[in-house]
Amino acid sequence: LDNGLMRTPPMGWLAWERYRCDIDCQNDPKNCISEALFRDMADRLSEDGWRELGYVYINIDDCWASMDRDANGRLQADPKRFPSGIPHLAQYIHDRGLKLGIYGDMGTHTCGGYPGTTLDDITTDAQTFADWEVDMLKFDGCYSNAKEQEKGYPAMSKALNATGRPIAYSCSWPAYQGGLPPKVNYTQLGEICNLWRNYGDIQDSWSSVLTIADWFFNNQDILQPAAGPGRWNDPDMLVVGDFGLSMEQSRSQMALWAIMAAPLFMSNDLRTISSGARTILQNRVAIGINQDPMGVQGRRLLVEKSGIEVFWRPLSDKASALVFFSRRTDMPYRYLTSLAKLHYTHGTYQIYDVFAERELGPLKDSTDFVVSVNPTGVVMWYISAPADADQNSAHMGEKL
Ligand code: GLA
Repeated sequence: LDNGLMRTPPMGWLAWERYRCDIDCQNDPKNCISEALFRDMADRLSEDGWRELGYVYINIDDCWASMDRDANGRLQADPKRFPSGIPHLAQYIHDRGLKLGIYGDMGTHTCGGYPGTTLDDITTDAQTFADWEVDMLKFDGCYSNAKEQEKGYPAMSKALNATGRPIAYSCSWPAYQGGLPPKVNYTQLGEICNLWRNYGDIQDSWSSVLTIADWFFNNQDILQPAAGPGRWNDPDMLVVGDFGLSMEQSRSQMALWAIMAAPLFMSNDLRTISSGARTILQNRVAIGINQDPMGVQGRRLLVEKSGIEVFWRPLSDKASALVFFSRRTDMPYRYLTSLAKLHYTHGTYQIYDVFAERELGPLKDSTDFVVSVNPTGVVMWYISAPADADQNSAHMGEKL
């Protein structure tokens, strides 16, 4: 969507995967969906080095609303859990240099059973979010049919635009239509939404991360061209820092999401996150690859019988990223290859190992090398163009 927003993939924090629909503030005050939770996370984003790295969105998901609309038919926050109200929370978040996202649903109810936005509510709800000074809307699609979605998603895009407030727009529409053409029209999505959920919900497990990554790369011929500045595929939240992933798997999620030019919305507890998980999520080069201004989504280059897969993303200034990923479950695998085998043909390249955080020195395209890839882990490289490169890395894409 050409509204000037999200020229690189959005980054921030989103409540859903970790906090779900926990509304039990009596017994679980630290984790329930309430203004205190979002203030806590805003404090952490602004005080623990996240904001400076680009993690600026604090996004409310489902279960924030009161069960009833107000006397004027407007959505309202649950008064017990958001006693100061959303506008006050928006102020708190803006005061810290952050942005606030909120959640709505095209349909009669949200997925969690809270009031939805039917076709007649769209203008009212867009105006309500603008009046509250919200910066982003995730528009889910439970409890509506294909016909209603076909009207509702473009209508909400128009309604948000008509408020005059810049509000980034996340559409769950394709996820409800199977994520693929002909039911899904990615040209249209790129025109009306800044990002979109293509596929199912992520869970706090490695099998979930793997299933999602596989789906996106299996369908890369359709999905990869759909992405670009202002319009991103969304494979769902980062679960790094939660319970389901090992450190290797956490690096794998971070690396694959960077290759995919995916939104980086963490769903974790920033108050108690381990230093290991924080180091992965705050890796500057991995973030830099994700946030590359050219905004070209990467691709899977190779699936080896050995269980090694190689991913590649072209970056600006003729740079690129490679990820060597292992599906193996036995031991570190010594993968033998060369840059030439990965379609690099311009001589000698500078290699930086992103997670080891060290320069590996110059590497000639024809030289065989071995990377050791841990089970369910990755090795990620940032590759600078050779000094004499005369052709850009897009040329490389033609050979794939
Ligand atoms: C759907 C969405 C999730 C989350 C829940 C909330 O499942 O895909 O991301 O928003 O609804 O109920």
